[in-house]
Amino acid sequence: MRTKIIGTGSFAPARVVTNDDLAEIVETSDEWIRTRTGIGQRRISDGPGTAVMAAEAARQAMENGGIGPEDIDLIITATSTSDYCFPSTACEVQGMIGAVNAVGYDISAACSGFIFALNAADALIRAGMYQRGLVIGADNLSKIVDWADRSTCVLFGDGAGAAVVEASREEGVIRTILGSDGCKASVLKCQSRTMGNFLTGDKPEPGYISMEGQEVFKFAVKKVPECIQNLLADSGTDLKDVKYLILHQANYRICESIAKRLKVSMDKIPMNIERYGNTSGATIPMLLDELNREGKIKPGDKVVLAGFGAGLTWGASLVQW
Ligand code: ACO
Repeated sequence: MRTKIIGTGSFAPARVVTNDDLAEIVETSDEWIRTRTGIGQRRISDGPGTAVMAAEAARQAMENGGIGPEDIDLIITATSTSDYCFPSTACEVQGMIGAVNAVGYDISAACSGFIFALNAADALIRAGMYQRGLVIGADNLSKIVDWADRSTCVLFGDGAGAAVVEASREEGVIRTILGSDGCKASVLKCQSRTMGNFLTGDKPEPGYISMEGQEVFKFAVKKVPECIQNLLADSGTDLKDVKYLILHQANYRICESIAKRLKVSMDKIPMNIERYGNTSGATIPMLLDELNREGKIKPGDKVVLAGFGAGLTWGASLVQW
């Protein structure tokens, strides 16, 4: 059995926050943000949390795939910003959409999360354990951003994307490569809650994102092309036969550097970072949904999905539509 993507969906909160809006709360400018990152605006939630966004993306993906919630037997959500420590976002989504026949759990791999979740669903479906799953990437990063830190707060947005995957005799997820390097964990991190209990006498404090931007940049432009090249070599696929490289939307310049290293034009690398910023685990499924709905991916097309992020983690998946 193979794993085929049969439907996609996405959701972004209604509230648009422009670069000029941010220039009112930190010392920055539209020009600085656009030229360094390619971001023009982002959506920031003033209501829906991670699970509500994820459930809406899931509903759309099910509608797009022509299936109902009872047909789903697996829900894997990639998120770094679960509404609760427990239950998982996947269980919350299960309850919200009424997927009464499913089992749900979350995966933590930051901005690479959707690829890790897709790989897990693919392995379980290939093993014959499940028939039809929801793979979701959802993040509400605005709640863990330090809104006084201009070096990070301008980068991120909120959103969710989902794909319905199904056991199929046709080609679908052809191959996936994942990697992690825990020695570089400190380069990009967010403490969940500081230590604090009756023994320490400290009050637990919330954690915020911290990042060594240039280290992340260097890691991404080296690791992602390497990972894509290995993926294609392992699966005997020529890059020219791949229609799109759907990359994690962290920074336009990172994607440009990846294009240069792989010697492909930016026409092969669709981008929506200008409108949404970096929504972490959600960028890849949100962009995939956009391309699918615009009819830009046709049956038989091959696409590569590739992510990178905290961990450090990275991963790429070759998918036939
Ligand atoms: N507005 C204006 N000035 C700023 C801002 C801002 N928002 N942020 C930083 N600066 C200033 C700094 O204070 C610094 O000033 P100084 O020279 O007076 O000290 C100057 O700009 C340069 O700062 P750098 O951090 O060196 O800026 P850099 O050119 O590296 O750009 C950026 C920062 C955009 C984050 C870049 O390092 C980058 O793209 N890194 C990749 C990481 C990334 O995209 N992460 C996204 C999240 S992680 C992920 O998704 C995997």
